[in-house]
Amino acid sequence: FMDNVMMANKYINDNLNTVDKKYQPTYHAVSPIGWVNDPNGFSYYNDKIHLFFQFYPYKPNWGPMHWGHYTSTDFIKWELHPVALAPGEVYDKDLGAFSGSAVVKDGKHYLFYTGVADDLQQQCAAISEDGINYVKVNTNPVVTKEMLPDKYSKIDFRDPYVFLHAGIYYMILGTKKASFGNIVMFKSLDLLNWEFVGEVMNSDSPNNVNFYQLDGVYECPSFAYVDGVGILISSPQNLPTDKSNFENISSNIYIVGDFDFTSGKFTYDKFMDLDGGFDFYAAQTTKMPDGRVILIAWMQMWGREFVTSEDNWVGAFTLPRELSYRNGHLYQNPVREIYNYRTGKVSYNNIVIKENESLKLDNISGNTIELELTIKVNDSLKTGVKLFKGTTNETLVYYDKESSTVIIDRSKSGIVIKGEEENISTRSTDIYLIDGCFKLHIFLDISSVEVFINDGYKTLTANVYPKDDDLGIEFFSIGGSSIIKEIDKYSIIIK
Ligand code: FRU
Repeated sequence: FMDNVMMANKYINDNLNTVDKKYQPTYHAVSPIGWVNDPNGFSYYNDKIHLFFQFYPYKPNWGPMHWGHYTSTDFIKWELHPVALAPGEVYDKDLGAFSGSAVVKDGKHYLFYTGVADDLQQQCAAISEDGINYVKVNTNPVVTKEMLPDKYSKIDFRDPYVFLHAGIYYMILGTKKASFGNIVMFKSLDLLNWEFVGEVMNSDSPNNVNFYQLDGVYECPSFAYVDGVGILISSPQNLPTDKSNFENISSNIYIVGDFDFTSGKFTYDKFMDLDGGFDFYAAQTTKMPDGRVILIAWMQMWGREFVTSEDNWVGAFTLPRELSYRNGHLYQNPVREIYNYRTGKVSYNNIVIKENESLKLDNISGNTIELELTIKVNDSLKTGVKLFKGTTNETLVYYDKESSTVIIDRSKSGIVIKGEEENISTRSTDIYLIDGCFKLHIFLDISSVEVFINDGYKTLTANVYPKDDDLGIEFFSIGGSSIIKEIDKYSIIIK
């Protein structure tokens, strides 16, 4: 007799060599084989960082969900473990174990996930004492359909995020009331017995400021206090585009505020894009023993063509990001551990980019690199950098004076990525110049671009599929000249 966990593990071990890694990022967590979506159970347990993920190992497309499992000691190098969860019980036999979270209590690692069976979504737990083997509890589902008041959907009721606050465990998760998305809260003292608290989004009245009418689910909520400020993250489906915000059909937003832990209501000001790029979803946060709040997201997007499915893998994760909150704004920066992998520094200062020239700098090139630069805009209308540049391909990241945005343009990146959105070429995010300058901190990893703008004030993340010799980097300025005040480039090499 082989259960579904053993079967999946045997399949993975027997078939890892069928994966073509030509587009795989080298310093990011990636799908080892088959399909991967959301990060799950991001947590610290037994001296290791644990990253679980939505996983269908058998094919490079979505299928009944397993939880894959990586651990790391530095957020950069990831060790693959046997799958932690597979479909099988009455409450998760059909579509399996959907997204969720992890907490540590009394030396044990608790996973919370959504079991999907018989058209129902209910919340389940699994426990480990070694950080490798996870056993589903025999009282599953721990949050049943009966525990959710009848006005909410039990078909869309998923993605439990559990956290401890003032001695009580809270679980927030997405659901719908009528056709409107909402987030609800439950609470527990022991992680196994739960009771309903209330609505987080308080959607009773569309006139209420604490409301965002949405015909979709607020998927994958996550919550943390960052520098003393409550940051609630969620991935709402069908959030309407608002200028340079929410340009994807599936968005990933954050709201700043706090819970009323008695009613569940979260009072906030407005929705903010967590990342302005193409490929960023289902971000989850966790708090490290040293106090840092770290975020990781799926570096892919629903409703797109998945170019690497031909290579028998789909899905990767962003670089983990350190969150901070200052001057009324959330900042995201790459985990500092990535700097341990820098080699071959190349620097320049005060280089003029003349109008309409495409400027190359000696030894600045590559596709597994870090680039940090400050550009003074001067009289330029558009100025920035061409990445993954070859004879025909290029990916642009530049400041556009007219709209005060930083734009990423992947229309000529390489393989064209079609998607459900009309605009498949560009994404943008609005910024402020500082003393007439903007800063780009860029990480390229074979098929990914992550841009941290103005010290993490905004970010843009995207996948691109250039040729393997599209290694060029050039700088441009249109409508006037600009100046590269300073630039540092490093290779990022994982040994
Ligand atoms: C978000 C999501 C979750 C769900 C999971 C299923 O990407 O749709 O809501 O739990 O993926 O794989």
